[in-house]
Amino acid sequence: MPRLLTLSRAARLVGVRRGALQSKIRSGELTAFEGMVSAEELLRAYPQARLEDNGLERFDAIKDSAFARRMRERLLPSSEVLVARLSELSRERAQVQAQLEHYRAVVDELQAKLREPGDAAGVLAWLEQRLEPVALGGQPLLAQESFLRIMTAHVQVKPSGREFLVDGNDSLLEAALRSGLSLDYGCSIGSCGKCKARILSGQAHRTRHSDYALTAAEKNAGVVLMCCHTALTDLVIEAREAHGAADMPLQSIDARIKSVSPLGDEVRLLHLQTPRSNRLRFLAGQSVSLALPEGIGASLPVASCPCDDRNLQFHIRRRAGDAFAERVFGGLKGVDSVRVEGPRGEFVLNEDSHRPLVFIAGESGFAPVKSLIEHAMALDASETLHLYWTASSPSGHYLDNLCRSWGDALDNFHYHPITAQAVLWPLLRDHPRLGDCDVYVAGPGPWANAAEFQLLEYGLPRTQLFVNTLQP
Ligand code: FES
Repeated sequence: MPRLLTLSRAARLVGVRRGALQSKIRSGELTAFEGMVSAEELLRAYPQARLEDNGLERFDAIKDSAFARRMRERLLPSSEVLVARLSELSRERAQVQAQLEHYRAVVDELQAKLREPGDAAGVLAWLEQRLEPVALGGQPLLAQESFLRIMTAHVQVKPSGREFLVDGNDSLLEAALRSGLSLDYGCSIGSCGKCKARILSGQAHRTRHSDYALTAAEKNAGVVLMCCHTALTDLVIEAREAHGAADMPLQSIDARIKSVSPLGDEVRLLHLQTPRSNRLRFLAGQSVSLALPEGIGASLPVASCPCDDRNLQFHIRRRAGDAFAERVFGGLKGVDSVRVEGPRGEFVLNEDSHRPLVFIAGESGFAPVKSLIEHAMALDASETLHLYWTASSPSGHYLDNLCRSWGDALDNFHYHPITAQAVLWPLLRDHPRLGDCDVYVAGPGPWANAAEFQLLEYGLPRTQLFVNTLQP
């Protein structure tokens, strides 16, 4: 039986995206066994894989670049976790060694028997040939996999079957969020009990001594708090996941103003930070209401990824008569915190779809699109992502460098800045089979409505079109 690798680990080993492996499996180029691949099969599909490289570092380099090192910290697992993982690997290695020695003894015995007088010379020659040392193509890959197993643990979530890797000292909850999973949680510090998960196999390790939210019966049944545990070994867990906007609780949080910084002349980046124990749980693409103490407010899409639930970003465009924008452009002087209420809205990623993704942003409609793209990158499930960003002037692409850095770092991401208002013709030029894609449109109301009309006229199925109309 060949040693099987999970897709997450296999992708890291050969330095490709998990979505690329899934695409090869769907097309039949790569054979999977119950969602896993063998080392030999992986090398057959990726003969150029540079196994002398550290797959983990190559993968992290891509992620760091894509996420501008915003939240990833290169941490080794704690010494306790490292020791436990090494001892688990040593135990497996000892078992394999014992089996090999047993088979070797059986074969030696067989050889001795066959050397005895009789007509077994042909069988003996065959056996000796079979016992010649063989080149095992998958060995370097398996050695790398052993290294990866010390540095990271693989977690599969039931019943969805989604998977993620736990790096460094991340809790199960942090690692799941970074991988784009929408697990149920609340406080993140072990108080509310919302992040309960049952360990079905493997060993978890408590990192925070705060499990009074669990009953004795739950503890006996193997239930843990994901925000207070990391993975000692590979795990299979049972946990609740959100399946759509309706599963997101409405929250009200007083967030600190971290910074207000310019994104060109007409847009400001407002960075809010929630308290550590009261973070905003939301889906990428959703909006919230922001209110200043003096009563001025606005409804705005979150421009950051739910995988970083403490740091919320908003793109504020200057508009005549918009009192909230005026206050932000004035630097929010004298304001310490902003009341955040939400999330709201159905403009979220259809995670059940495997279609290529096309994002069309008009002006600062880029904000919810940015959140969706970062979430799609964290999920790493889509074959290709295309971003078309239309702006009435070149300075309207106020995060042009970020988009270009995504394109440089990820071979499946394609960026198309457009300064004309019409979006359909470049789309049709690049996507002769647009009907096979999921298309997400966000921008000022009249512009977004026109784009929606054109796309439906073209024949894009309504079920594959998602539109967010924002304030002009
Ligand atoms: S999120 Fe509240 S206990 Fe884990």
